[in-house]
Amino acid sequence: MKGIQIISTGRALPKQVVTNDDLGRIVDTNDEWITTRTGIKTRYKCEDETCISLAVSAAKAAIDKAHIDKSEIGAVIVATTSSEYAFPSVACMVQKELGLDEEITAFDISSACTGFLHALAVGRALLGTMNKRYVLLVGSERMSSLLDYTDRSTCVLFGDGAGAAIIGASDNIYYQKSWARGNDEVLSCPGAGQGPSFLSMKGNDVFRFAVTVLKQAVDEALKEAGMTMDDIDYCVCHQANIRIIQHVQKQFVGNEHKFFANIDRYGNTSAASIPIAIDELMEAGKLKSGMKVICVGFGAGLTWSSVLFEL
Ligand code: UT7
Repeated sequence: MKGIQIISTGRALPKQVVTNDDLGRIVDTNDEWITTRTGIKTRYKCEDETCISLAVSAAKAAIDKAHIDKSEIGAVIVATTSSEYAFPSVACMVQKELGLDEEITAFDISSACTGFLHALAVGRALLGTMNKRYVLLVGSERMSSLLDYTDRSTCVLFGDGAGAAIIGASDNIYYQKSWARGNDEVLSCPGAGQGPSFLSMKGNDVFRFAVTVLKQAVDEALKEAGMTMDDIDYCVCHQANIRIIQHVQKQFVGNEHKFFANIDRYGNTSAASIPIAIDELMEAGKLKSGMKVICVGFGAGLTWSSVLFEL
């Protein structure tokens, strides 16, 4: 089983930080409700930035740290559902803005909050088929463009941002499983030409789905690898609600500290949440060669995916 090597990572955030009190001034909500129900304190919101510019900046940050010949990047895959364009893809704009070689496979993946892990699955597969050494993966979201700022049940939850990773092939351990359960009733957003494109969500239904599949996905990854949580160094779950993470975390007694959380500063950045988290861990020097990490994504689709990999 061939795995991946993370060559480098990067992230990009808009300049504007929006606090819970800021939201309390435009909709009937307050810091106490948002903090206790979600764990979110602040999130970033685009002003002059875009989904594309965030993707470009995060990808550039990863490339700048990689010390590689960028003509060796054979694919750029962007996970997003909030681009300014239905087409061209964000990936093509990243190729243009960063001057990547034209001999490249560039496309977007539309898979909401699971998107980055689907990009990882496809990127890893491409590594085995192309004659170049690296794949550039990006999760970029301008969720604020999909939010109805009169709907307090959704507008407080999401944030804008992007994360990126350059991966190469390795012989390290890698197990991934993905699932889909088609459902347009609990979490959806109209597409181009369908009028105002605001996200709508039945929060309680999505919460129940999330806690169930998150535990299942972690268990499946461990089972596939023949490991227990004792063998794992970090578990990076999609950051949708701190209570969702805590619900699963408390079922792994003695290993609670392995569950990463940064939702307090970002809110739910959908496809960007996992690469932003990995970049933060990398930057803090917490991820080292040989360590084992589980990542779990879940969201609209409904879809979910878990991956267990060795660094
Ligand atoms: O990334 C995609 C996946 N998304 C998720 O995983 C999200 C999953 N769902 C959740 O995280 C939670 O269900 C929410 C955070 C969305 C909501 O939390 P909850 O504890 O399930 O609250 P609720 O929807 O049951 O609402 C409780 C009360 C309601 O008032 P009443 O009917 O009890 O009077 C809501 O109207 O809270 C009210 N409420 C708010 N109050 C103040 C809803 N939103 C707000 C708000 N501020 N922003």
